[in-house]
Amino acid sequence: MADPFSIRPLTPVIGAEIHGVDLDRLDEPTFQRIQQAFTDCGVIFFRDQDISVESQKALGERFGELVIHPNDPGLDGHPEVMIIHADETSVRVAGERWHSDVSCAECPPMGSILHMHVVPEHGGDTLFASMYAAYEALSDRMKSLLDGLTAIHDGGPYYREANRLIGRDDGGREYPHAEHPIVRTHPVSGRKALFVNQMFTVRIPELPQVESDAILAFLFAHVQRPDFQCRFRWQPNSIAFWDNRCTQHHAVWDYWPETRSGFRVTIRGDRPS
Ligand code: SIN
Repeated sequence: MADPFSIRPLTPVIGAEIHGVDLDRLDEPTFQRIQQAFTDCGVIFFRDQDISVESQKALGERFGELVIHPNDPGLDGHPEVMIIHADETSVRVAGERWHSDVSCAECPPMGSILHMHVVPEHGGDTLFASMYAAYEALSDRMKSLLDGLTAIHDGGPYYREANRLIGRDDGGREYPHAEHPIVRTHPVSGRKALFVNQMFTVRIPELPQVESDAILAFLFAHVQRPDFQCRFRWQPNSIAFWDNRCTQHHAVWDYWPETRSGFRVTIRGDRPS
């Protein structure tokens, strides 16, 4: 019988759609092929996966322990499930800026799995960018400046602003902050990736403020180059599974007042090295 499994790359550097898979019934060989595609492509996409929240959690748990978001209350009875939702009453959406999920944590998540339920008629795409490609495109001089430097990632400014916009009282809570290498080595692929993002990265502590600001501004612009990116057009029951260690993403909010809705689970990662 013909093998139904196929991988269709979206660009040479990032993203692939995987077909011929039922994520509710994953045998071990198929799971291993998905794991390999995840490592090779940075973000993988599936279509027509009508799975329950329990199945989505079980899928995530095959890749690692699920984590609770530091600012999101989660779905009733499922605190590890983040509701991604926007409609005509929304004043903000999650992820509308280039970022890697919760990079402010000591051990930022290795990956996130988003299952989309409702999509707008037009728009609502998510952009993904390869941080391997972003690192590899730098000059040797810039690479040697960055290799060995660290950066402070702070969840406070972004999460407090998000709460202020929706009128949520955070009760003065503390948010995660951490110092990570600017260039991290992926624990599975062994490749180097840039690890700074405009949502959470605030400072390069080894440099004077003015130099830190200039280098971060350059890197935040650099990672947005179109040749590092792919763009995913959602359909109901599409799933995206991205690797936060070597990609960033940006959710485009161009569909107001339409509704876009789904669930995300997030998988624990290691301390970047
Ligand atoms: C996010 O998890 O950052 C949101 C992604 C999206 O809504 O496309």
